[in-house]
Amino acid sequence: MNFLHYQKGKLFAHQHSITELAQQYGTPLYVYSRDYIEQQWLEFDHALKGRKHLICYAIKANSNLAILNTLAKLGSGFDIVSQGELERVLKAGADPKKVVFSGVAKSEAEIERALEVGIKCFNVESEPELERIQSIAQRLNKIAPISLRVNPDVDAKTHPYISTGLRNNKFGISYQLARAVYQKARELSHIEIFGIDCHIGSQLTDISPFLDAADRILTLVNQLKNDGIIIKHIDFGGGLGVCYDNETPIKSSDLVNELIKKLAAYDCDDVEILFEPGRSIVANSGMLITRVEYVKHQDDNHFAIVDAGMNDLIRPALYEAWMRILPEQEDKPGQTIYPYSIVGPICESSDFLGKDRELAVEQGDLLVVCSAGAYGFTMASNYNSKPKVAEVLIDETSHRLVRKRETFEMLWQGETI
Ligand code: LLP
Repeated sequence: MNFLHYQKGKLFAHQHSITELAQQYGTPLYVYSRDYIEQQWLEFDHALKGRKHLICYAIKANSNLAILNTLAKLGSGFDIVSQGELERVLKAGADPKKVVFSGVAKSEAEIERALEVGIKCFNVESEPELERIQSIAQRLNKIAPISLRVNPDVDAKTHPYISTGLRNNKFGISYQLARAVYQKARELSHIEIFGIDCHIGSQLTDISPFLDAADRILTLVNQLKNDGIIIKHIDFGGGLGVCYDNETPIKSSDLVNELIKKLAAYDCDDVEILFEPGRSIVANSGMLITRVEYVKHQDDNHFAIVDAGMNDLIRPALYEAWMRILPEQEDKPGQTIYPYSIVGPICESSDFLGKDRELAVEQGDLLVVCSAGAYGFTMASNYNSKPKVAEVLIDETSHRLVRKRETFEMLWQGETI
């Protein structure tokens, strides 16, 4: 997070004081840098310069309308997994012709809506889904553009919960079966085959699983060519890891260059290339600012109890994810440093944001959880009847609220006694 820095011992994001942001908007608070997001997206896009391509930002990582609108203005495509995400991208002003639709359980209503607005492609994850799309397209008298999401049975070497490309994962069509499913798809009256797709997992820091998956996909593309089925685009999915601690992430340009070499080796130079990055675009754009409510020392345990919890940011609780936590004030002379557990208000022992963090903190201090721009707010819940927090978008010189803090009334909206 290169825009986060200490100035005379106080933490700033670009030119904005964390203390002032917290005072103005309250805590807990998500803050994202628009400049950073644009930079990440443009870097990916430039790596593909000169080739037919589309970067389809995976909106599940962060679906705030202001962020979607920022990316839409750059010309981004979008990868969605639900009708809710589709409605969001439309609301944000995106072009439906740049939307690809992934997900294993697309409902009839979702397929119908996607056909109605005219998306770029359905990433089909099973044979019954293909049949469902065909019958809905036929009823609506439309031709459905499809690609098959192929499960290449490759170990992404990441956390098991975010690994998706192994044969025992629910995702995609096994690569042994895919050729036959393409042949079936070709026979369907209201289906048009456009592409092939794979996504093997998230937070990958090793390039080899990407390349192994590409080998399997490209072998299949050539087999399909022999069958007379021409693949017009290859979607390599998302999954690029980011730096939370000391990981060395794969640069988008390195991934692109390696994959382009593979395309040449398999004589697939002329296809359009798609990617579906989420985390690598937004993770390090964002932070969660939280305030210390209490400090509690018991036996050998030191707790900094803060106002943000697993309801706001579930990654540490769900994946034991390590996320950097910075104090707003760099040094606290005279204050003892303890190995703190940073815990939230939720009534669960899994409610922590960090463990064993050497910090000097006192009641009222602000802490900043870094790299929280991806899978932070989008995975937030109202557990323990906590209203969802506010979101702010900053750039070099300005800041603005892009989502109001929820009110208590919103907690029971739609409920009746
Ligand atoms: N495409 C598909 C079909 C996906 O399922 C995903 C993520 C992406 C693209 C974007 O992957 P990314 O570039 O963000 O790695 N909640 C977890 C991550 C779940 C990822 C789910 N799928 C976390 O907080 O680590």
